[in-house]
Amino acid sequence: MALDMNPDFKGRDFLSIHDYTREEVAYILQFALQLKKMQKTGQPHQVLAGKTLGMIFQKPSTRTRVSFEVGMYQLGGYPLFLSPNDMQIGRGETIKDTALTLSRYLDGIMIRTYSHDEVLELAEHASIPVINGLTDLLHPCQVMGDMMTILEYKGTLQGIKLAFIGDGNNMAHSLLYGGAKTGMDVVIACPKGYEPEERIVKSAQQDALETGARLWVVEDPREAIENADVVYTDVWASMGQEKEAAEKEKHFARYQVNQRMLDLAKPDAIVMHCLPAKRGREITDEVMDGPNSVVFDEAENRRHIQKAIMALVMQ
Ligand code: CP
Ligand code: NVA
Repeated sequence: MALDMNPDFKGRDFLSIHDYTREEVAYILQFALQLKKMQKTGQPHQVLAGKTLGMIFQKPSTRTRVSFEVGMYQLGGYPLFLSPNDMQIGRGETIKDTALTLSRYLDGIMIRTYSHDEVLELAEHASIPVINGLTDLLHPCQVMGDMMTILEYKGTLQGIKLAFIGDGNNMAHSLLYGGAKTGMDVVIACPKGYEPEERIVKSAQQDALETGARLWVVEDPREAIENADVVYTDVWASMGQEKEAAEKEKHFARYQVNQRMLDLAKPDAIVMHCLPAKRGREITDEVMDGPNSVVFDEAENRRHIQKAIMALVMQ
């Protein structure tokens, strides 16, 4: 099995699913499925031998760090963990100077941080690909891995209904973009005042004109979940919102994905969560450990999809 390293991806950043065409998104998904098969069957795929990925984490991580690190190793490359506490960026060196310097050593940068603008600035000044490992605005690698998981379970994305129950956060935003590019219908159910950003909904709906995906926002979680093929949830308070957690819990109480709620979806609906979960809050143990849950398949697919993204942009 030979890997088709489409040269169109070489040197590009991966900051948002919105930046890629529907054909490119489909290509990355298929490429990742192929890489997964190769890795599972022991076929060599060290297409990034001799290359180095720097990984900057301004926020904690379990999945993103380990899946990028192991993924890079499996591709034959070297992953370098960069803690801002130990870098000059933590003492005020500019993003621009950091980008210009790191471009002289590395072949790619993965960054997880708060402000999406910082990632845009880093990408603007870096001469090497920059991959978004989560910002307050978006989490594109997660949603790519999630769409790969849906493909594995449902065989298609076109026409699938995904109901996201919870906060209109980075996950909601990226799911809207993911649906838009693949023809998957995405409904976001969230309390008043916690909707996804209007400009993201609008631009995703614009993207969706090409695939026919329906993207919409409602307040009632029971209305959203009806007939859903995929039920998705995420924490109510994201990283950086710790102070708001108690207040948010009051608003989100009826947004819990529990068995009673899940019973309103299709009987074969899959349950997804990007993790880490607050068990007993946005999702119950019963549902997370139940037969419909695919949350650890999603976690695994982070590694395969990110290998695909790294292989293509860092080739
Ligand atoms: N889903 C996800 O990105 O997990 P981590 O925060 O553990 O990286
Ligand atoms: N919305 C969550 C996702 C974590 C992977 C957060 O930003 O904390």
